[in-house]
Amino acid sequence: MRKNLVIAIDGYSSCGKSTLAKALAKKLGFIYIDSGAMYRAVTLFFIRNQVNINEPEAVKDALQHIELNFHSRDYESHITLNGEEVSEEIRKMPVSENVSEVAADKLVRHEMVRQQQRMGKSKNIVMDGRDIGTTVFADAQVKLFMTADPKIRAERRFNEMQSKGDTETTLEEVFENLAHRDYADTTRKESPLVRADDAIILDNTAITPQEQLDFAMQKVQPFLPQ
Ligand code: CDP
Repeated sequence: MRKNLVIAIDGYSSCGKSTLAKALAKKLGFIYIDSGAMYRAVTLFFIRNQVNINEPEAVKDALQHIELNFHSRDYESHITLNGEEVSEEIRKMPVSENVSEVAADKLVRHEMVRQQQRMGKSKNIVMDGRDIGTTVFADAQVKLFMTADPKIRAERRFNEMQSKGDTETTLEEVFENLAHRDYADTTRKESPLVRADDAIILDNTAITPQEQLDFAMQKVQPFLPQ
């Protein structure tokens, strides 16, 4: 039985995993790790350096030249790629359109999982992603599997992008991208997105961020020191 507490949050694209994960981390004083940001940053490196995902040697070599670090400011997670802050760039469409292909690669996954396991070895953490409760921390004490209506998810992501100044991407493009990623993530060979048997389902289509936090806190409560 692990001594540190791990909360694993998995689920479909853009269904509020990071909103919940950040809120939980803040409330509990835990470290928040956005595993999707790692796959996105690797994808950005591959795009910039024209790394061909179908060439294992090139992928191996590229992975040796990538250093990822998280910097937490007010529980907003910021990620650096070889020292450069890339948090905004990795959320844009060029990365979103390529990330699921990169994340399906065995070599990429093995390296990311290795790094994620190291980050959660001894500290209390909340980690969100696709394979946290099934692969990265199959022994996590609390596992949540999030879902929401696809149209609502697309609207939320679209509004978020608009508020960050991305006015070029349409709602339809966002919807298509989420559908494409969900399909790719659930059907890939290497640790596909699937609910762990012991994960609790949380559908947040019609509930507020506060309600989802309250729901999650109820599940975490029994594991907190009395
Ligand atoms: O925030 P959003 O739901 O759009 O996605 P994300 O968490 O930033 O993840 C981006 C992509 O990375 C996903 O569509 C997956 O293809 C991949 N991913 C993964 O394969 N495994 C993880 N643990 C996290 C993300």
